[in-house]
Amino acid sequence: SITRRYTFNVRLQNITRLCRTKQVITVNGKVPGPKIVAREGDQVLVKVVNRVSNNVTIHWHGVRQLQTGWSDGPAYITQCPIQTGQSYTYNFTIIGQRGTLFWHAHVSWLRATIYGPFVILPKIGVPYPFPKPHKEIPIVLGEWWTADTEAIISQALQTGGGPNISDSYTINGHPGALYNCSAKDTFKLGVRPGKTFLLRIINAALNAELFFSIANHSLTVVEVDAIYVKPFTTNTVLITPGQTTNVLLTVKPNPTNATFAIAARPYVTGRGASDNSTTTGILHYHNSSLSNSSISVPKFPLLLPSLPSLNDTNFATNFSRRLRSLASNQFPANVPQKVDKRFLFTVGLGTNPCPKNQTCQGPNNATKFAASINNVSFSLPTTALLQAHFFGQSAGVYRTDFPDNPPNKFNYTGMPPNNTNVSNGTRVEVLEFNTRVELVLQDTGILWVESHPLHLHGFNFFVVGQGFGNYNPSTDPANFNLVDPVERNTIGVPSGGWVALRFLADNPGVWFMHCHIEAHISWGLRMAWVVNDGKLPNQKLLPPPSHLPAC
Ligand code: C2O
Repeated sequence: SITRRYTFNVRLQNITRLCRTKQVITVNGKVPGPKIVAREGDQVLVKVVNRVSNNVTIHWHGVRQLQTGWSDGPAYITQCPIQTGQSYTYNFTIIGQRGTLFWHAHVSWLRATIYGPFVILPKIGVPYPFPKPHKEIPIVLGEWWTADTEAIISQALQTGGGPNISDSYTINGHPGALYNCSAKDTFKLGVRPGKTFLLRIINAALNAELFFSIANHSLTVVEVDAIYVKPFTTNTVLITPGQTTNVLLTVKPNPTNATFAIAARPYVTGRGASDNSTTTGILHYHNSSLSNSSISVPKFPLLLPSLPSLNDTNFATNFSRRLRSLASNQFPANVPQKVDKRFLFTVGLGTNPCPKNQTCQGPNNATKFAASINNVSFSLPTTALLQAHFFGQSAGVYRTDFPDNPPNKFNYTGMPPNNTNVSNGTRVEVLEFNTRVELVLQDTGILWVESHPLHLHGFNFFVVGQGFGNYNPSTDPANFNLVDPVERNTIGVPSGGWVALRFLADNPGVWFMHCHIEAHISWGLRMAWVVNDGKLPNQKLLPPPSHLPAC
């Protein structure tokens, strides 16, 4: 294994999209930013230099950061942000992981333009558990606003309303031909007939779960969140913000056309504000008798793949049920068979305005719109939780009384809800090292019945069960899959339903858990786990680097 060094210059750059030019905060002047490539076992050093007036941090989404929580990146959770003119070198080793992940800014809404692929290759000589692809291509899905995204979220938090929706979805930064002025600003994927390609699909969009498809081609899913799965074939992939999905694309030996449309558009449940526009790209065959020298733009919408409808929950449910860990001898699924601690967390959005006789304390103001976990709307502290934990200075920074269960019993699927009381606070859940955790996440469907892609830092979890309605602790566990459940770091909690997760708390540190819809995290749908050190030296959080940023 070797050391891979990168420099990320966080700087302003003028970028034109959808006919409008704006100054955006970028890494090295590009959106998406640079691709990081490392092998399992490699050490990765990324020097981040802040040349903008905003505070910055970078998160390596899905990298487990065993004992190296100081490099995880969420602002005020594991580090104070890197201030203007300062730099910080993230330093970590990739242990026991291979596959597709991504990196993004983890402060305010900066990840709108600060994101890029993170590819972990297997160790040298270790093959993929599927046919070797001819080529590997990152497909990074994003969102673009023509206005300033930092202004959008700060205004939404001040007024208590929903933030403006984006102006387009993008594929590798390009909106595609269905948007204004974007016929030329279209992602193109050139392929050779009969070959197999590995598409590393990443949903880096802020607020949209997305369907992804290629007209007249099927996709074989082989990996999610850097964990191999039992391969299955589908026309459409559903991918929530924070998830990654590797698919094999076997292209036709004798295509009928030289070009086919690639398309992505949202999956939206309930009444969430949504833009159901479609971002498109072009799959283009080289060396086929049909191809001409210039890439022709297909005539939309004729060639668009038929994507599921906007609110096709049947598709979503069936797709997630098809995902199973590969669970082979070489890549086993180490599902905790026994459980030491059980938690039931409700996740949901509150109401706006706040109902009379209830409390709706959002993160910024006591009367504004709030989102919560177990009725706690999490406020970020003014110093980093990990520092407070490591130096034994938690007093006044965080409280350790996060509720293990919903504080009030009510019917989560009821409409209207009978409990939206939310209070804010910086409260954490403490775990002893190696605790086997079972966590049920119950969507409350309080106002906007919307699914929430929950992301856990520091761990992968196994999705042992899922269902609709209220979780029933006496009957539902009988149906849990403890053999080959999918293992991942981000899971969509279905609208009006629940998921059951298991994980082993074998990584000491402080680990953020939150909805990966950026609007919801801003409203407080977030919390943190503190995992204490174990007894052995390799079970302890390493000391912080000396140049750790100060708050
Ligand atoms: Cu990709 Cu805390 O997030």
